[in-house]
Amino acid sequence: MALDHSVLLLIAIITGSYTSSKVTQVSVKVGSSITIPCVYREEYRNHVKYLCRGFQWSSCTDVVKTNRPDQSGKFSIFDDKSQRVFNMTIGDVTKHDTDYWCIVEKSGTDDGAYFHLSVTDGTPALYVDDQEVQGFLGGDITIRCYHSTSSGEVGWCKLGGTCVKDGWGTIDGRRVSVNSSVPRVFTATLYNVTIQSSGWYLCFKGDLQMPVYVNVTDRPITTTCLSPTTTIESGKISSSSWYLVTLLIPLGLLVFAVIVAVIVWFMLKKHSSSNPQTSAMAQRPSESSQDVTYSSVVIKKPQKAKEVELSNDTVTYSTLKEYKTSS
Ligand SMILES: *[C@@H]1O[C@H](CO)[C@@H](O)[C@H](O)[C@H]1NC(C)=O
Ligand SMILES: *[C@@H]1O[C@H](CO)[C@@H](O)[C@H](O)[C@H]1NC(C)=O
Ligand SMILES: *[C@@H]1O[C@H](CO)[C@@H](O)[C@H](O)[C@H]1NC(C)=O
Ligand SMILES: *[C@@H]1O[C@H](CO)[C@@H](O)[C@H](O)[C@H]1NC(C)=O
Repeated sequence: MALDHSVLLLIAIITGSYTSSKVTQVSVKVGSSITIPCVYREEYRNHVKYLCRGFQWSSCTDVVKTNRPDQSGKFSIFDDKSQRVFNMTIGDVTKHDTDYWCIVEKSGTDDGAYFHLSVTDGTPALYVDDQEVQGFLGGDITIRCYHSTSSGEVGWCKLGGTCVKDGWGTIDGRRVSVNSSVPRVFTATLYNVTIQSSGWYLCFKGDLQMPVYVNVTDRPITTTCLSPTTTIESGKISSSSWYLVTLLIPLGLLVFAVIVAVIVWFMLKKHSSSNPQTSAMAQRPSESSQDVTYSSVVIKKPQKAKEVELSNDTVTYSTLKEYKTSS
């Protein structure tokens, strides 16, 4: 346990247990989270893996183990035994999260590798949009790696495997191209990917790396994949039509009520404006007949009739009734 990490690295290089395509330095923004993968040898498949914080292995603190989860929730660890890779996520990165060791427990001295996080306030010196990239069987996958450093070679590596520098190459028998013609960003394109193309890769620029997990799945064009999407679509349609119905019923009722109200109003308006007398007569026939006869009375006997009216109403009324019956 009391081995300095440089001595360990030297041993690693001599024994050939580590390839150059591994994580040694990653640029991370304060407050973000980062996932770091570490490859291990076949014989360590069923061993406990852990993450240790501190520059010196001898004095580092275990923060999370595959058999002991972190209670704070800042760290998590996952051992992908089929790929011989364990990955650790460090959440809410602070200025103190700079030195770590990914370690495999074994009898005698544990086996591990040091990595450094360059924590920055601004944009990281090398980063990707997403650390997990989705791809389909037989398709091409393009990963964009953004950088701000002007010096250093660019490239794309399979973690623990081969690397492709600027230009063309192959990884696991598949064509890969790295294109750095555009400043501040380079792209890595994996062509005609297979299920074996899935796994951890690294973008690199100078001495910085950025891990990316490529997840290749079957293209969703088979019937088994289409049926759930169509049911989702039909579900969407039915739910939206149901929504429309619930919206249209009260709306339709409202429109109908408004139309009825407008028609009734127009009919009433038409009646009262075109022949108000007939309507008035229809409503109160006795009174109106009196009015008609009264007006004729006024014409026939202008001044005197009024005076007679004022003096004795009953007399005038009796004469009016007589007038009406005669006509
Ligand atoms: C580990 O990587 C896998 C992808 O291989 C990802 O789904 C998972 O969330 C990661 N887990 C941790 C703890 O980093
Ligand atoms: C690199 O990409 C540019 C455009 O982004 C393209 O014009 C050029 O041909 C590409 N080079 C290679 C080697 O693919
Ligand atoms: C893609 O790979 C498959 C084998 O995995 C091969 O049969 C096919 O021809 C390749 N397609 C292209 C366009 O290279
Ligand atoms: C790969 O993608 C599929 C489909 O999105 C998902 O179900 C699966 O969990 C992913 N695998 C990993 C290791 O992240």
